[in-house]
Amino acid sequence: MQVSATVQEVKTEIDSLAASAITAHELMTRMVDLLHKRMLKYNWVGFYMLEAGAQPPMLVLGPFQGAMTPHTRIPLNEGICGAAASTGKTVVVDDVTKDPRYLACSLETKSEIVVPIFVRGEVAGELDIDSHFPAAFALEDLALVEHCASLTGKKLEKSPV
Ligand code: SME
Repeated sequence: MQVSATVQEVKTEIDSLAASAITAHELMTRMVDLLHKRMLKYNWVGFYMLEAGAQPPMLVLGPFQGAMTPHTRIPLNEGICGAAASTGKTVVVDDVTKDPRYLACSLETKSEIVVPIFVRGEVAGELDIDSHFPAAFALEDLALVEHCASLTGKKLEKSPV
């Protein structure tokens, strides 16, 4: 896979963030900020986390960068976010207008990636990124965002908040 210099640099910056952040919350807050600032096509970057003990299960908006979204709570049977959390699989949507599951957050959004976060083998939440550009998420982006989600899961295992 071709990896651009920017993606390589950002991955290194994310790795040092993960090493220096004391809490998972600090890591998540700084990670969304870094991805939003450095990756020019990542126009909305945020976490949704499963609410502890909620029945039915509910994703709740966590740290994010970008415009405020109307979707602060998403049930698992709704949206691209619900699909990724309920299947435990990464979802990449190149054209959100063609995906009937899509819940609109901004009229400018054209493509989206959602990567589940696992804590001790169970889905605990996800990292969601929207782009104003169609098909913005290539294989190198998928690898970067999955790396971010994996570091977040590992940090949550060590430091729950
Ligand atoms: N588009 C998401 C909803 C969250 S906003 O993008 C921030 C979805 O379809 O689940």
